[in-house]
Amino acid sequence: MNKIIEIKNLSVCAITKSILNDINLFIKRGEIFCLVGESGSGKTTLALSIIKLLPKNFKIISGQIIFENQDILKMSESEIRTIRGRKIGMIFQDPGAYLDPLFTIGVHLQEALHNKIVDYKKFIERALEEVELEPDIQNTYPHQLSGGQQQRVMIAMALINKPSLIIADEPTTALDVLTTQQIIKLLNSLAARYNIGMLFITHDIALAMKIGKRIGIMYGGYILEIFNPATQVPIHPYTKILTGQIEEKTETSALTTLNQKEITEMCPFFEKCPERKIECRTKLPFYWKDNETGNRCIKYGRNSAM
Ligand SMILES: Nc1ncnc2c1ncn2[C@@H]1O[C@H](COP(=O)(O)OP(=O)(O)O)[C@@H](O)[C@H]1O
Ligand SMILES: [Mg+2]
Repeated sequence: MNKIIEIKNLSVCAITKSILNDINLFIKRGEIFCLVGESGSGKTTLALSIIKLLPKNFKIISGQIIFENQDILKMSESEIRTIRGRKIGMIFQDPGAYLDPLFTIGVHLQEALHNKIVDYKKFIERALEEVELEPDIQNTYPHQLSGGQQQRVMIAMALINKPSLIIADEPTTALDVLTTQQIIKLLNSLAARYNIGMLFITHDIALAMKIGKRIGIMYGGYILEIFNPATQVPIHPYTKILTGQIEEKTETSALTTLNQKEITEMCPFFEKCPERKIECRTKLPFYWKDNETGNRCIKYGRNSAM
């Protein structure tokens, strides 16, 4: 199996609050891995950990992030700079915020290109062609473009150094439905054509089901399930709530009778879980079902673990 990145036992906290807990996942070359979770579940923190751009008050407590056989977390700032924006491309939610209004699109693409090559003009034209933009767009300024065009420019900037991994953090959240479909189609074909691994972050499970080869479900800083939407029906109760298979528990009195130790150790979804049991009040590992998928649920994980 050709993994482009593997995250092992990653935990991150902000002062005393835990933000990411024991994250384990990998992405293969050419694979789109979707990370889905509600706002505040830790998706962006996970993305920023990979490129070592966490806010100052965040601390990595444990874990490894292996990228092309090297642990990113052990790299110095100068080492990570040879990877960030080069071997790992990034696309964010609001392209307008990342494009400088004072510079043309051509200047942005030149700046993004790390290898200062002589025939950079051809390189830039090819990058624009990849994202289906006309070469003339180089002479325009960001505000003259639509949101979809701006996102295509961001994708061209992310692609220009031929990365092996792209992190796309909610890249279509600010776009309309039709533009979203076009951008998704573009990302899909680029990942396949250049064998790029992609971490695609979204809060929209329906979108993830359409494009993800595998989907990781985040809740409260934990990954609760990883599944393949083409071959598996999700089994974790939280995922089943997201996909509308079951309903979330509405009475929330359960926590009042628990002691502090139980609260810190139990399943993060305990309070809202319609299928919870007494045993869910203990710390759970992530149960790998096969090498690629699994879940963090005592009811389903244990039974289906190999
Ligand atoms: N700079 C920060 N300082 C302290 N806590 C933060 C900061 N940024 C985000 N958080 C907290 O970290 C958690 C995860 O946030 P985030 O990774 O942005 O989630 P998501 O991308 O899934 O919405 C949230 O509880 C959020 O409030
Ligand atoms: Mg986010």
